[in-house]
Amino acid sequence: MSDREATETSGKEEISVEDEAVDRNIFRDCSKIAFYRRQKQQPSKNSTYRALLDSVTIGRESTSFQIINEATKLPLLAEVYGIEKNILRLKINEETPLKPRYEVSDVLISKLNTVRLISCCKDTGNLILSDEKGYLKCHITENPFKIDLVSEKEVVMSINSLGQLYFEHLQIPPKQRATKEHEKSTSIDTSQEDQEDLGLWEEKFGNFVDVKANGPASIGLDFSLHGFEHVYGIPQHAESHQLKNTRDGDAYRLYNLDVYGYQIHDKMGIYGSVPYLLAHKLGRTIGIFWLNASETLVEINTEPAVEYTLTQMGPAAAKQKVRCQTDVRWISESGIIDVFLLTGPTPSDVFKQYSCLTGTQAMPPLFSLGYHQCRWNYEDEQDVRAVDTGFDEHDIPYDVIWLDIEHTEGKRYFTWDKKRFPTPTRMQELLRSKKRKLVVINDPHIKVDPDYSVYIKAKEQGFFVKTHEGGDFEGVCWPGLSSYLDFTNPKVREWYAGLFAFSAYQGSTDILFIWNDMNEPSVFRGPEQTMQKNAIHHGNWEHRELHNIYGLYQQMATAEGLIQRSKGKERPFVLSRSFFAGSQKYGAVWTGDNTAEWSYLEISIPMLLTLSITGISFCGADVGGFIGNPEAELLVRWYQAGAYQPFFRGHATMNTKRREPWLCEKEHTHLIREAIRERYTLLPYLYSLFYQAHVASDPVMRPLWIEFPSELETFDIEDEYMLGSALLVHPVTEPKATTVDIFLPGSNEVWYDSKTFACWEGGRTMKMPVTLATIPVFQRGGSVVPVKTAVGKSTGWMTDAPYGLRVALSTEGSAVGELYLDDGHSFQYLHQRQFLHRKLSFCSRVLTNSCADERGHFSSKCVVEQILVLGLRKEPSSVTTHSSDGKVKPVAFAYCARMSTLSLEKLSLSIDADWEVHIQ
Ligand code: NOJ
Repeated sequence: MSDREATETSGKEEISVEDEAVDRNIFRDCSKIAFYRRQKQQPSKNSTYRALLDSVTIGRESTSFQIINEATKLPLLAEVYGIEKNILRLKINEETPLKPRYEVSDVLISKLNTVRLISCCKDTGNLILSDEKGYLKCHITENPFKIDLVSEKEVVMSINSLGQLYFEHLQIPPKQRATKEHEKSTSIDTSQEDQEDLGLWEEKFGNFVDVKANGPASIGLDFSLHGFEHVYGIPQHAESHQLKNTRDGDAYRLYNLDVYGYQIHDKMGIYGSVPYLLAHKLGRTIGIFWLNASETLVEINTEPAVEYTLTQMGPAAAKQKVRCQTDVRWISESGIIDVFLLTGPTPSDVFKQYSCLTGTQAMPPLFSLGYHQCRWNYEDEQDVRAVDTGFDEHDIPYDVIWLDIEHTEGKRYFTWDKKRFPTPTRMQELLRSKKRKLVVINDPHIKVDPDYSVYIKAKEQGFFVKTHEGGDFEGVCWPGLSSYLDFTNPKVREWYAGLFAFSAYQGSTDILFIWNDMNEPSVFRGPEQTMQKNAIHHGNWEHRELHNIYGLYQQMATAEGLIQRSKGKERPFVLSRSFFAGSQKYGAVWTGDNTAEWSYLEISIPMLLTLSITGISFCGADVGGFIGNPEAELLVRWYQAGAYQPFFRGHATMNTKRREPWLCEKEHTHLIREAIRERYTLLPYLYSLFYQAHVASDPVMRPLWIEFPSELETFDIEDEYMLGSALLVHPVTEPKATTVDIFLPGSNEVWYDSKTFACWEGGRTMKMPVTLATIPVFQRGGSVVPVKTAVGKSTGWMTDAPYGLRVALSTEGSAVGELYLDDGHSFQYLHQRQFLHRKLSFCSRVLTNSCADERGHFSSKCVVEQILVLGLRKEPSSVTTHSSDGKVKPVAFAYCARMSTLSLEKLSLSIDADWEVHIQ
């Protein structure tokens, strides 16, 4: 039974949800989407546009000119902007729309710094715009209208070279059109209006009728990426990391939907959307960010490189390589064309370019990188206590226990079920005494209940989304009949944020954090389980204009609420199911209702890689699978994978068997404990990676092609990934595996098995024998990974625990790494620069701990206790430590000639001081 069906029996408080795959019939495929059909059917005679280069105005910020549809003669206005960091922005809108068209706000961070583009050549039919240095350059061709993006004399990308620019001008509704004259002035051939399947003013899907007050308003544009065969991004789909050709099937759909038990290898939209695509080839990475929050479809057409023989040259002819190309067509239901072209050229440049538009990953509080224990539901306070104790009894660290919807009084958020949770503060005090946290759920639907204060206040102030008739929108969700807060309204966000104040949210304390769920928004019995597109938001915008950004706004308001309740001092933690471009600024996301099957474990890797490269580093998948009961082996493998993914939470739906780690056989509990403990050991490294994501835009979890951009073999690998630049992880995702094929990239690289320390040369695939205890993780030669040498009950117990440094030497015998450290919870790192950023480097047999960022100051009691050097070929005669005041001390060491490892134990080197370790 699906969520939707679950409330068919509703009104009720008890919901039983059975395991079942998604009912695909309640969701539309491309053939059922009218604006998509219209664009596909558009006769080519209507699709030619001409740029009027005589109309060019070069302003301080942008260059604008008209483009005219040759058939309808209707004008569009194009604006080209240069933006710092080599980004080109193209906006196309109607020159004089009947009324304003929706433009996404609140995604781009502050004001973008524009770069002046100058016209360097304007001959007949052409205009060349370039920045001063000539890095950012575009050629605009008049007829047919086309833009080529040029870099270093190479045309990287062409826009509208396939003539798929499409723009439906707003029209007066047919009924209001008085004269024939009026009809002529419309962009769409009005003789088509009677054909129902064009869905111009009305569209049916099942029993749902979407009445479109503004009529057809869709837009579209094509981009040809020259020489590119590998494209990625546009989450969220349960699909491979590398985007597939859509020629023979559905386009990738970006439409946030609640799809319980979604199918894998499907291009339908689920939960969140980031309309941002990356393309990579040898020597260049680029990005296309399509800033539009309405329903969007993306077609991918890749023509691979073909080698053929020039026949006129005879049988022994030379072969010629035809360059490959990928054509990407974006089609959105409404809004304007507002597209950012990120020119790279490196993956890291593209990440910086994207984050300069949408912001970087929020710096998470340290606890949120620990292990999270969730279930729908932990029944009552007694249950919470028992689970909490269970972790201690079984010596398994964890940081957060989660409460799902049943903790509330009848799904009224901000309340507690008085029978099950009579003393929530006491319960939180218990957790606090264990240095642990609580996360509770808070959904966007508000129970229609005249006795529920949140409902009354929101209603009084007009804070709900409205129907097109003007009343409050009402739909069914967990509480039964509900209204939905209009988070697109800044006043609603401000008010909602205020509800998290300790004085307002009774029973909440500062160890309570928030989970926003069902915020696509999910509306049971609604069209495709979501809100009618003609519902009305703040500013009189239809829901269709902004559907994909609704969830982002809730997470934004929640994060703001948590910051405010601490008077701006503490970092928030908010997990959201729905997301959009820029959601990374507000917290974490996860991949929703997955299933306890091996294939879902396997697909979690490409799904998380895709999120990671589109700015959302803090992401994870429900460990164990949300729906169904994983067999012990699958559960163990999932913990092992999750331990090496950014957001690490075990979760399960209602009717599943309890699966706290100690409920399986001892042997399996042991392996789960080991996996979680490995996670805790690795936290210093992980936290440092999050800092890099926060300040330098580098994803935490990285597909191999990012680290090895000039190695073709890595471009389609998605069963393994890099955690930062130092660790290669290849989770085991197959049952009864005895071996795993691991690709170790880089012919000049060496890799060290993180358990056995065995050393392998890169540039090859190796067959690794595995048992159920094996998590294949390799440390890259040339890296230093900081770890903790002791694990506590939670991150809070580990503040003063000593560090260890794992130094893996490159073929040249050197290594480098870093450690970032701060108080783990406040904004002092930002406002007072209270942080420590150390550089750890190994060169000529000397390991140096030095300052990586002089601006930071933070003192730590921690010492480096262990140093392990991997790949040290020659046995040392002595090892000495050298402090900055000149003191030299010999230290004991153990060298293993067989494995070429040097191990130093019981050291006491302050982490926050400069020192060196010399190996003679
Ligand atoms: C759907 C979410 O995806 C799931 O994680 C949660 O447990 C249920 N809603 C109940 O809140």
